[in-house]
Amino acid sequence: MTAAVHSTRAPRTLPDAPSTPRATHPGSLLGVADLLSGPQSAHGAQTDRIAHILDRAAFLESENPLERAHRLAKRKIALLFYESSTRTRTSFELAAKALGADTTLVSSLSSSIEKGESLKDTGLTLRALGAEAIILRHPNSGAPWLLEEVTGLPVLNAGDGMHEHPSQALLDLLTILACLRPGVTSVSSETLAGVTVTITGDILHSRVARSNMLLLPALGASVRLCGPEPLLPAVASEIGPGIHLERNFDRALVGSQIVMMLRIQAERLAGLQLDLDEYKRDYQLTAERLAAHAPDAHLLHPGPIIRGLELTAEVADGPHSRILDQVRNGVAIRMALVERALTASPASTHASPGGAR
Ligand code: MLT
Repeated sequence: MTAAVHSTRAPRTLPDAPSTPRATHPGSLLGVADLLSGPQSAHGAQTDRIAHILDRAAFLESENPLERAHRLAKRKIALLFYESSTRTRTSFELAAKALGADTTLVSSLSSSIEKGESLKDTGLTLRALGAEAIILRHPNSGAPWLLEEVTGLPVLNAGDGMHEHPSQALLDLLTILACLRPGVTSVSSETLAGVTVTITGDILHSRVARSNMLLLPALGASVRLCGPEPLLPAVASEIGPGIHLERNFDRALVGSQIVMMLRIQAERLAGLQLDLDEYKRDYQLTAERLAAHAPDAHLLHPGPIIRGLELTAEVADGPHSRILDQVRNGVAIRMALVERALTASPASTHASPGGAR
């Protein structure tokens, strides 16, 4: 079978970062840059904010659910989703509810967005209705920055176009730590020293890859990118330190402790022509490949997985797979982020209960 995936426009470069790379509200998480303070920061190490979020995630996950449900009792959170989602939306919603918050979901298919209402007006409407924080998924890179600016509310980026998905990178980090550094309770720029994470697949269109490429090297990991040129432009290795390119999947697997597979994002493939049989031959993760080149590796995938394309069903269900652990860890991380969003004070970047920074 030679199935080609193609359409009419061809994005060939990675998207630019928005011009305001940091959030202004201390409760927002718009991109990985918001998690990293400068290395010379008077407030501690560059990784302090990450350590704090991981710490809160662990605490909230283990807390008695009845006590936890008082933390944000009756606070109001809006989920504003312009793209479909299963894992991210559900886990944010369950996380907010686990802390006692009231949530409302606005999706582009069942709201005035369908009638042409702008992001700005939708955001202002949600604020007028009492929303104290907004969780946003949007097809345009940079949309969360705009929403934060016009509403002044804390915004959590649940995926903006091809740009970033910072809460996914945090839950991936939590999963990696559980696999490779069990029992580690704090993180530093050395925590993942010696760890190689190989990310394979449609890196060009992946906000998950981008956020991981920014986050994991900050903790000492080396990130190997693997995929064919149309899905992985050479310029990707310039995104930051600790990133390397290896086009040959078998070679990339050797020495990798973590293998993160990505789906081909057919909805964003504009103009690219891809021979799927060739792609599977060269880049599909199979049990044979894992056994031959990375027998001890842990498999991650942000989902949705496409069985039989980027990975075989055998591998998806096999002993290497940590995919459902990622899903579970998503709730813990998002509890910490929702709590941070609603407890950080705009007047101070270092407020808390729970030290929301
Ligand atoms: C995303 O929203 O970016 C997903 O988790 C990954 C994907 O859509 O393939």
